[in-house]
Amino acid sequence: MNNFYYQIPTEIFFGKGQIEQLEKEIPKYGNKVLLVYGGGSIKRMGLYQAIYAIFARIGVEVTELPGVEPNPRIETVRAGVELCRKNAIEVIIAAGGGSTIDCAKVISAGANYAGDSWDIVTGAAPVTETLPVLAILTLAATGSEMDRFAVISNMKTNDKLGAFSPLFYPKVSILDPEYTFTVPKNQTAAGTADIMSHIFEHYFNNVQGAYVQNRLAEGLLKTCIHYGPIAYNEPENYEARANLMWVSSLAIDGITWRGNDVATSVHPMEHELSAYYDITHGVGLAILTPHWMKYVLNDKTLDRFVEYGVNVWGIDPALDKFAIAGKAIEKTADFFRALEIPATLREVGIDDAHLEIMAEKAAKGMKKAFYPLTSHDVLNIFRAAL
Ligand code: NZQ
Ligand code: ZN
Repeated sequence: MNNFYYQIPTEIFFGKGQIEQLEKEIPKYGNKVLLVYGGGSIKRMGLYQAIYAIFARIGVEVTELPGVEPNPRIETVRAGVELCRKNAIEVIIAAGGGSTIDCAKVISAGANYAGDSWDIVTGAAPVTETLPVLAILTLAATGSEMDRFAVISNMKTNDKLGAFSPLFYPKVSILDPEYTFTVPKNQTAAGTADIMSHIFEHYFNNVQGAYVQNRLAEGLLKTCIHYGPIAYNEPENYEARANLMWVSSLAIDGITWRGNDVATSVHPMEHELSAYYDITHGVGLAILTPHWMKYVLNDKTLDRFVEYGVNVWGIDPALDKFAIAGKAIEKTADFFRALEIPATLREVGIDDAHLEIMAEKAAKGMKKAFYPLTSHDVLNIFRAAL
């Protein structure tokens, strides 16, 4: 196991009715609030009204930034930064999925940066100071509620980039699984695929002796495999929604990622798909993952696939090793198909027009991956997934 540093400074309030915690949490950070949210799901489910009831009780000054897009745009971040400056915002409340929380995180850094917020996303400007972000999660998927990442898109340049900073951890996250009862089936499926992909990205590693991380990862994967379909079929099943919500946070917070460091593989490939075609992140991941698995399976990587097949899918360990690995990959693809996620890039409107440039951009950071991929390899995977 490698050396590592691990700290999660986010305070988590998990469970039914935890929204009420905001009444004592908001005043700790300030009185001038920016409320950031998406296209309106929080109004339809009554969360917006519940937040305003609390605002009324504690008497805060509220500015709103509605309309954060799925795959949040840099223009929306810039609009939020303007509002923070104009209204001397002291605390940001993000109510929504990963897109809303990510947007709020970059706004929180942009508010104290004199230049253009895109510099924060590219890493050209280090994050030195942020406004406090309090998150209310409504979709189990990205883990943004308890991690240090924020992913923002610039559709003019077809760039979707992940920024990270220890200052991006939300101060507080309210995780009430009931707020995810209204998540549509396709987003429940995509969210489950995203959570699983976060686990895969480090479960498939070459580090010796990271036993505890690997076993934890298998437990988290089994949780997704068990509860994903239940939440998909019974949207108001509290137990399923609660387990998915907590696994989303644990999948990317570092508990299975520290000490077994590898660069991610499928995420950079997917970010190119959404950067060029604005598709749902989890759908892109589900399409690519089985193809990536097939591509990287060889004598050297075989043992990890065997562990995956036996420990996660319960495949008979007495079978031939390549047969186990093949079955495990098949089961992964079948699982995504059962959640009715499209299985090919063409089904989500992607053709071969930009694959070469996308492959080149995606391969840039993959030298330290489980199986280092060149742009040629990525192109092969994209083509197989078409
Ligand atoms: O905008 P609203 O009206 O809220 O509707 C959203 C949106 O249309 C809807 N939704 C969310 N909660 C709902 C709901 N609808 C009904 N009931 C609810 N309770 O779902 C749609 C998708 O929301 P979004 O926030 O875009 O989804 P998600 O949480 O999957 O976030 C995706 C974004 O996060 C990035 C992705 O790349 C993408 O940009 N990621 C962020 C990461 C991070 N911060 O660590 C890591 C991930 O790998 C990922 O890259
Ligand atoms: Zn993801």
